[in-house]
Amino acid sequence: MKVVLLSLLFMTTVVSAYSSNIGQKVDSLLSVMTLQEKIGQMNQVSGIDFSTGPWNKESSIVDALHRGEYGSVLNIHDPEEARRLQTEALRSRLGIPLLFGLDVIHGMSTIFPIPLAESASFDLAQIRQSSRFAAVESALCGVHWTFAPMLDVARDARWGRVMEGSGEDTYWAAQVAEARVKGLQGEDGDSCRIVACAKHFVGYGAVVAGRDYNNVDMSVAELYNFYLPPFKAAVEAGVGSIMTAFNDMNNVPCTGNKEIVRGILRDEWHYDGVVVSDWCSVAEMCNHRYAADQKDAALKAIAAGVDIDMVSRCYAQYLEELVAEGRVDVAEIDRAVGRILELKYRLGLFDDPFCAFDSAGADAVRCSPAMRKAARDMAKRSIVLLKNDSATLPLKNIKSVALIGELCRSKVDMMGNWSANGDAADVVTLEEAFLQRNIKTNYAKGFSIDNDECYWKEAVNAAKHSDVVIVAVGERGRQSGEDCSRGELTLPDNQQKLIGELKKAHKPVVVLVMGGRPLIFNLAAADADALMVTWWLGSEAGNAITDVLFGEYNPSGRLPMTFPAHIAQLPIYYNQKSTGRPLSEEVSFIKGYIDIPYKPAYPFGFGLGYTTFSYSVPKMDKSQIGPLESATLTVTVTNSGQVEGEEVLQLYVSDCVASITRPVRELKGVQKIRLRAGESRTLVFDINEAILGFYDNAAKYVVEEGFFDVMVGPNSNDLQKCQIEYKL
Ligand code: NOJ
Repeated sequence: MKVVLLSLLFMTTVVSAYSSNIGQKVDSLLSVMTLQEKIGQMNQVSGIDFSTGPWNKESSIVDALHRGEYGSVLNIHDPEEARRLQTEALRSRLGIPLLFGLDVIHGMSTIFPIPLAESASFDLAQIRQSSRFAAVESALCGVHWTFAPMLDVARDARWGRVMEGSGEDTYWAAQVAEARVKGLQGEDGDSCRIVACAKHFVGYGAVVAGRDYNNVDMSVAELYNFYLPPFKAAVEAGVGSIMTAFNDMNNVPCTGNKEIVRGILRDEWHYDGVVVSDWCSVAEMCNHRYAADQKDAALKAIAAGVDIDMVSRCYAQYLEELVAEGRVDVAEIDRAVGRILELKYRLGLFDDPFCAFDSAGADAVRCSPAMRKAARDMAKRSIVLLKNDSATLPLKNIKSVALIGELCRSKVDMMGNWSANGDAADVVTLEEAFLQRNIKTNYAKGFSIDNDECYWKEAVNAAKHSDVVIVAVGERGRQSGEDCSRGELTLPDNQQKLIGELKKAHKPVVVLVMGGRPLIFNLAAADADALMVTWWLGSEAGNAITDVLFGEYNPSGRLPMTFPAHIAQLPIYYNQKSTGRPLSEEVSFIKGYIDIPYKPAYPFGFGLGYTTFSYSVPKMDKSQIGPLESATLTVTVTNSGQVEGEEVLQLYVSDCVASITRPVRELKGVQKIRLRAGESRTLVFDINEAILGFYDNAAKYVVEEGFFDVMVGPNSNDLQKCQIEYKL
């Protein structure tokens, strides 16, 4: 317990640096292992009672553990079960300890906001800290390895997994990748050490039509410029493992894709950590009709460079045969097993197979005051205010509130999908948070989320008897996540038209949009006096939302994804290409659509607060730079409102002419600052080759001569520009 508290206090670290000593230990262990034992290390099994995908359950894990047939186990939630299985694994001939992996996506037991919400905070220190807290709780529960962070850039909100990532922007996803990897893996000296897993390599966010597990086909430049950078950032941050994606990439399933796994990861980036398949994605190469059978799938996965087969047993069943037939070289197996053993040594599993395992410690930390405070801090920073007419918010002098909608009191939805060991009972709902503040609540269901039923009359009645009306609309927590692609993102009439009805009570109406993705709510927004996106915020959701509603925290979140105005606009993202006919509402042949607008409802990076900020005209100190030179852009921001607040300054770059078509603008810098009312601060952005270049069609990073627009402002659609020339 003492160790745990120390690590919570000092936020110290994880995986120690490589030592040749470990290399020697790995080699000497490898030299006494049989081929079967080596293959065992490459085989990952799921805990008997849990699954996160379709599979054939294995009956006796224990006997197989004694035979050394598994190197790692996923989906064990109970620390005591992990302890039991580890004890059995240690009884095998060589006593090689197991690695326990779990999807700890936004907290282990104390649940933090979903990753997309945390991304909206645009606060890297806070995101890193949230990952660190998750790691501490995980390690105490016997988890050594989380399958996170998900680094898939996602431009299509139909894809349910957008909730697990950091949104549509590549630059920001790379920043978040580094923060999360460092937060999860920590720094030297930390007792609670877990390994992160950058997933899904690669391009999963670009599945056609936003349909989960669908195909992906993109140009090399698209892959290098938009989808690879977050993974590269994770590798540079020292990520211990990488998971291959379910999808194919340019006609080859990622799990059997030599060009991307061996070629990019190992050869180009010199990544020497573990590569794990996704759930059964080795065997699924048969469904892709890329492998003739499971033996062929095993051959293709190992040839691509996949070290661990998650659940599909293709390695367990066929690698030995493939070696006997001379089709797989034992040296290849040794390299894969060497990486797995090295990871186990680095984690210290050979010294203490139970590592930070501590059931009592885990219980003590779970939803402890320190954990709750951290979860609440993160949650309030994740909220995005989109409308606030007549300064409806913050709420002042209210004694009663009408709470409309089941989501106001739904603990399980508040946790969001992928909530590991989270217990809904630990969640503070919105209703509970109001009651704790001694505000009278008049609850009415108002509508059904699951069908089109309306209960408007009782809702209007509750509104009439209250000082203010809070309506929670949106989707359920389990409606976003894996296998949760949706074809309709527009909130149904029974949710949206209700807002107009409630106005009849002549009370201010505040709409809270809860969900794991951008949703469409134009009607509701038009009728609302104030509206905020509150995502799924986890254990402290209700408290965090009321902190913002009452102005105890001035909202500072910004949208990490474009919010569409119409479902048919998808995929929609701010860094689109200009095309030969840049869109314009007025001119024929470039209107985009004849029946819907082309503009989104809210642009990427948008968000309001309870104060306002004004920007000076940005200035560059040089009009031209050359190789290895840099210039600075300077801008002064003033808090022109009445209260202290935070602003998220965003720097965008646009290449005026390039050898390949480039986006209209790309985010290249973010600074989040806090200013007192009336306070000004001058901020500086460095303009250099790192933000002016791009990967060309041959995957070569180039910085081309010519002019660049450099823009700064509060969101992707509200920018002031300067220009700079780059000359060789
Ligand atoms: C499948 C998901 O795609 C992946 O993200 C997850 O880590 C594994 N299942 C394990 O649950």
